[in-house]
Amino acid sequence: MTDDTVRSAADATARGADRAPASTARVAGADAASSGREAPLLAVDRVVKRYTLPRERLFAPAPAVHALRGVSLAMHAGRSVGLVGESGSGKSTFARIVMALERPTSGRVAVLGRDLNALGPGALRRARRDFQMVFQDPYGSLDPRQRVGRIVAEPLAAIAESAPAARVAEALDAVGLRASDAAKYPHEFSGGQRQRIAIARALITRPRLIVADEPVSALDVSVQAQVLNLLLDLQRDFGVTYLFISHDLAVVDHVCGHVAVMFAGRIVEEGPADALFRAPAHPYTRAFIEAAPSAEPAQRGGAFGERAAQTARAPEVAADRAPAAAGCAYATRCPHAQPRCVADDPALAPVGAAYPDSAAAVAVAGGGVTHASAQAPITPHRAACHYADAVARGDAPPRSLT
Ligand SMILES: Nc1ncnc2c1ncn2[C@@H]1O[C@H](COP(=O)(O)OP(=O)(O)OP(=O)(O)O)[C@@H](O)[C@H]1O
Ligand code: SF4
Ligand SMILES: [Mg+2]
Repeated sequence: MTDDTVRSAADATARGADRAPASTARVAGADAASSGREAPLLAVDRVVKRYTLPRERLFAPAPAVHALRGVSLAMHAGRSVGLVGESGSGKSTFARIVMALERPTSGRVAVLGRDLNALGPGALRRARRDFQMVFQDPYGSLDPRQRVGRIVAEPLAAIAESAPAARVAEALDAVGLRASDAAKYPHEFSGGQRQRIAIARALITRPRLIVADEPVSALDVSVQAQVLNLLLDLQRDFGVTYLFISHDLAVVDHVCGHVAVMFAGRIVEEGPADALFRAPAHPYTRAFIEAAPSAEPAQRGGAFGERAAQTARAPEVAADRAPAAAGCAYATRCPHAQPRCVADDPALAPVGAAYPDSAAAVAVAGGGVTHASAQAPITPHRAACHYADAVARGDAPPRSLT
């Protein structure tokens, strides 16, 4: 990448890059990917992750945590997905499983059609070229004893490729750092610069997918904006697609055209960001949006900002009861819960007919729709709630559970 390219990338308006056709991407194969002709970039099928905890007493059964309870997600090249949800909902567990850093208890994870958990160690190492991760903590994720050049080169070295200085310099250049920075140590950089180093490390294998777990939440707000704009520039210039995990809905709205909302180890709502933020169809999504700080996101604009600026209508019920063993996991907190909800666990199902704004962008049959401008399949707006359409319209029944 030349200096001129970097400058023009930095000058460009970043917002909305995810919604633009990926045909401008310079990475070989990105065009084919965005056309939807090849396997999905990421296909996660009914992934369950159960952690067994140490026994509290000698003969007591070992307690377990169900971190993921059957999560499915499809991602296509050029369509970044934002994954949001409260603390403990399973977002980082999902990220580690997508990155094959942990194995699922059951279920399947495929990147570009390859089942990651069926690959041997060598094949998995080579497959990692296509997917890399950026972690939350720019201080803890970089080895303080290694020079930056070695840190950035590490993913290439791990797949037994030489990492010529030119590749390191190219990656540093792409994130706005100098080739000479390769000789320095992480402590010589600010938090924002360290996160740029982490992004350069992720970029060096020229991956198709980057999983970013809260990549800006440890940074100052002003630095956050720079790093987000960098991520958007890289998306446009290199055809990278992000699975972007964040607590901050405005950040997700800025970077991603699609959003998935996780609650208690499940995706309870997903779809195009505009549709989901304008007419959330799961009561948890609605409460999550309404609980977010409204002033700043509203100033930042976007469908989430407009939504967050509205007043809350139906506050959650206090979570003083354990979730029901059967039925909807949100029933104990839901302001719309009905007897049916504790008997019958709702599956993700299409919504959209209830509100005209996004109905055109939603396919209710066949599981996908082709977006006219990008020719890439997009996920329809779906929610796991028996009253999703009514919730989206704003006229769901009041709670009738004690
Ligand atoms: N290695 C582990 N052993 C046992 N339990 C775990 C382990 N990793 C995660 N968990 C549990 O799984 C659940 C999901 O955790 P996870 O870190 O994925 O949540 P999260 O959505 O990323 O939360 P946060 O927003 O706070 O980062 C939590 O109950 C957590 O305690
Ligand atoms: S299924 Fe029932 S309890 Fe669950 S979110 Fe919908 S209305 Fe609430
Ligand atoms: Mg986490």
